[in-house]
Amino acid sequence: MKISVNYSGDYSAIVTTEIKHKIQTIHHGIYTKKAVGADYLGWVDWPSSLRQDWLKELHDTANDIREKSNVLVVIGIGGSYLGSKAVLEALSKNFHPYNKLEVIFAGHLVSGSYLKQLMQYLNSKEVTINIISKSGTTTEPAIASRFLIQYMEKRYGEQASSRIIVTTDENKGALRSLAIEKGYKRLIVPEDIGGRYSVFTAVGLLPIVAAGYDIAEFINGAKMAEQDFRTLDIENNPAIKYAIIRKHLYDSGYPLEILATFDDKLKYVQEWWKQLFGESEGKEGKGIFPTSVLYSTDLHSLGQYIQDGKRILFETFLLTEKADEDLTVFESPQNGDELNYLSGLTLHEFNHVCYEATSNAHLQGGVPQISITIEQVDEKHLGYLLYFYMMACAFSAYLLDINPFDQPGVEEYKTNVFKFLKKPGYC
Ligand code: PA5
Repeated sequence: MKISVNYSGDYSAIVTTEIKHKIQTIHHGIYTKKAVGADYLGWVDWPSSLRQDWLKELHDTANDIREKSNVLVVIGIGGSYLGSKAVLEALSKNFHPYNKLEVIFAGHLVSGSYLKQLMQYLNSKEVTINIISKSGTTTEPAIASRFLIQYMEKRYGEQASSRIIVTTDENKGALRSLAIEKGYKRLIVPEDIGGRYSVFTAVGLLPIVAAGYDIAEFINGAKMAEQDFRTLDIENNPAIKYAIIRKHLYDSGYPLEILATFDDKLKYVQEWWKQLFGESEGKEGKGIFPTSVLYSTDLHSLGQYIQDGKRILFETFLLTEKADEDLTVFESPQNGDELNYLSGLTLHEFNHVCYEATSNAHLQGGVPQISITIEQVDEKHLGYLLYFYMMACAFSAYLLDINPFDQPGVEEYKTNVFKFLKKPGYC
């Protein structure tokens, strides 16, 4: 398993003695669990510590869901939904709802029309819901839960409680109390793992395994990454390399990173990545603003800005070596569209050429670049990639002297919503 990180500039020139020392300190802090925010470093060795009996319980729960239901509604926001959403979108076929079970997300937005239409849609399905909130107090998923629990109770009566699974903190939160009172099955979000680092816990794994994907492979990928990214070899640790390049570009006047991909299946990996880096790094007036583009679509919109607009951004391409399925351009006798010159070229190859051409043009336009290449999109490579990003993000934030694991800005809005809505205890 391998991930390669390449930089358009001279990497060895930016690995100064100062940065080497800083990386050593960060590395020591992470692995001795003494770094700032160490209470939330549980994700670092989580993949290798997963027990078989725990995974069996998840599989059993997934089988039980599929026996009873053909739709799983996952209620959650931020780190409580983006990990599984990213993996499910990456692995599922277009125009076909998931593998063995349809998974629908709710609670990541507040919309009467979304919830009404969802409940109408569910009427013709058999349903299980999985409510995910570490704190158990986040307003948006709590609102969706209120409506969907009522829906389940009206529809399934006493059986409703066997169709509701709650993933939350072991010891605290309103959702935990509700689950205990109503007798819902409870899965735990480990105390030392925050939302955006929780994709390898029950938060991410249950929806993925319920949909029929191979979580053993997903975890294997993460385990390999856990081992590979432990090394302090600055030249050969892609997670550290990515963090160092980002820091260098940030210091050189590029505070905005665009994650670009040609693979539409990675659209929610981009969303997950934005949340991971944005929420981990954007603090104390510092941090790179993470954004994303999907090519070729965005070459015909934001591509203009990237090529020619204000020079504050750098671009990181997320590339895959192999496509899961492909088509080859064929020879047409009439050649009315004048595309015969492409015959024999696969569409994946076309995208690669398009990447090289785009990268070259943007570089000429003054956009520094990084490329991150994985072999293919499957469970194992996704596990490896997501762990890579988590480790890179921790190094990146620490390089800015930021605690990667809190989110005071998000808490501020959450508390303000409580105040503005006059929640008891907040007005
Ligand atoms: O990464 C994080 O910690 C956040 O994005 C949370 O996941 C998000 O705010 C949802 O929080 P909770 O799971 O407590 O409802």
